[in-house]
Amino acid sequence: EKIISFETIDSTNQFLKEHFSKYPSGTVVVALEQTSGYGRNKRRWYSARGGLWFSVLFKPRKQVDTTFYTRVFSVAIVKALETFKVHADIKWPNDIYVRGRKLAGILTEGIFEGKKPLALIVGVGMNVNNEIPDELKTRAISLKEILGREIPLMKLLELILKNARVLFRRYTKKKEALTRIWKRHLLQKEGDIVTFSENNQEKIGKILKILPDHLLVETDEGVRKVYSLSPH
Ligand code: BTN
Repeated sequence: EKIISFETIDSTNQFLKEHFSKYPSGTVVVALEQTSGYGRNKRRWYSARGGLWFSVLFKPRKQVDTTFYTRVFSVAIVKALETFKVHADIKWPNDIYVRGRKLAGILTEGIFEGKKPLALIVGVGMNVNNEIPDELKTRAISLKEILGREIPLMKLLELILKNARVLFRRYTKKKEALTRIWKRHLLQKEGDIVTFSENNQEKIGKILKILPDHLLVETDEGVRKVYSLSPH
């Protein structure tokens, strides 16, 4: 597919949200640096030079399960890291963790006309050769720090894209099979104790079931559907 690259951009997700109509499905946008990168819950995403910051555009023909796209990329990233002998886990739902610190994150955004998806944008941010700012050092890690050497960004991008392509081909008609693979790589297991927030209160409970877009958590006050976990 076509790869559009920028030196500097506000955000590769934002670019595709504005310009998706001009580009075909499969278009990839990558930038050396983002000035307004963002993550889930509108959090700022630090995107200095040296990191891998890209977004992929999809134009699905019918109603889609957007979480499937995100899962494809989480598994594609874990598999790409295996080729460097780096063992990574997925922190539910789709953060990539190594040694208890975050290496990569995924943000999938959709543009809908009613229920019809006009565009799906899967944004991936991975700390590769970039420096991690001091205030994030206890929570984030880079591939360079893990391997002790720099990794060529475009090689890594190609590898992740290739893995994603294979996974799409193999699992589009067998989505539950991909969900099982994703679950095997998850840090959280059914039965684990987790904390989450509800009405601004920190709650604790036991995971009864892990689903792609929510967890069923048993608390003292009953079973809750949890859509995101509290940071630890
Ligand atoms: C998260 O963990 O909250 C998701 C982070 C996603 C960051 C990537 S970097 C490329 C793309 N452009 C953005 O502005 N965000 C995503």
